[in-house]
Amino acid sequence: MITKLTRSPSVAAAILREGGVVAFPTETVYGLGANALDARSVRAIFRAKGRPRDNPLIVHVPSAEFVGQVAQRIPASARKLMEHFFPGPLTVIVPRHPGVPQEVTAGLDTVGVRCPRHHVAQEFLQACGCPVAAPSANRSGRPSPTTWQMALAELDGRIPCILKGGRAEIGLESTVVDCTGSRPVVLREGAVHLEQLRAVVPSVRTAAGGERHGPARSPGLKYRHYAPRPRVILVDGPRDVPVSEAARAAYIGIEARGFRRRPLRVKRCRAVSDYAKGLFSFFHQCERDGVGTIFCQRVPREGLGQALMDRLHRAAEPARTRKAERSF
Ligand code: TXA
Ligand code: MG
Repeated sequence: MITKLTRSPSVAAAILREGGVVAFPTETVYGLGANALDARSVRAIFRAKGRPRDNPLIVHVPSAEFVGQVAQRIPASARKLMEHFFPGPLTVIVPRHPGVPQEVTAGLDTVGVRCPRHHVAQEFLQACGCPVAAPSANRSGRPSPTTWQMALAELDGRIPCILKGGRAEIGLESTVVDCTGSRPVVLREGAVHLEQLRAVVPSVRTAAGGERHGPARSPGLKYRHYAPRPRVILVDGPRDVPVSEAARAAYIGIEARGFRRRPLRVKRCRAVSDYAKGLFSFFHQCERDGVGTIFCQRVPREGLGQALMDRLHRAAEPARTRKAERSF
């Protein structure tokens, strides 16, 4: 299959309406979309990504008014969060409308809904005229693409079209909040952080701790994510990069002075937001350069730092786990 590259939202939308899957930009990461109401198109997403069938997809809509097409009802907490954060980097989990195929939600009776604010995504979703199911546009288990070039490197020849946009402004995936229980639960941290959510719905809580042993509420969280091929190690700063490894190592962080020996590739970020925005494309470049180890500086767990630390920890999990779960 030849992968067509276009800057035209209407050209990309026409391919989607005919049943094709299309990679498209959003402000978080690039998504891999298909008509959410067409089970056959949705199955093509799972094939292109090599994604496990039990990991549900997020449905994208151009505005909050369309949520009723995919949700059976909208809980009060979801309604409030949508009012404040749509369009934007937030996904709410709500009860699934019976018209949404089981393939989208992996058999769950809930569905994740997101309304991105990126203008190209907005134009694309409007031109599609249907809800669009989309995971991140990477092969399963790999870091999410934040540029169209990364999406192409992941999926060239496996999908019919990539809608080109600029670099994703945020660079980390959306915050996912399950609004189906008595208290909303944050299932995945993202650019909309806990304090912001609580300012709107004070009862929002984190999933950490107590639920570890229960059934997985967000099936995706049990899979490896965000892992590049090089090993990832978290450090407190440049001094922690071992001299013996520097020649084949890369480093990314806020501080980039004081190395005992300068690594092959160094990326200094001016702020946590630049770090988040540049992280996955840095991983990608390091893979291309054949870097052996990527040292990543830890950041304080405040604001966007919560989501960034979450992704860094997942990327740094032992390679053993990585291999086992990549075989999906
Ligand atoms: O920023 C984003 O969210 C990007 C862009 C493309 O919108 N999408 C994205 O999708 O990151 P994906 O599939 O890579 O991650 C979706 C996460 C997974 O962990 C999945 O298990 C969870 O959301 N999820 C989706 N639907 C769910 C549901 N009904 N219940 C619980 N978790 C759900
Ligand atoms: Mg993903």
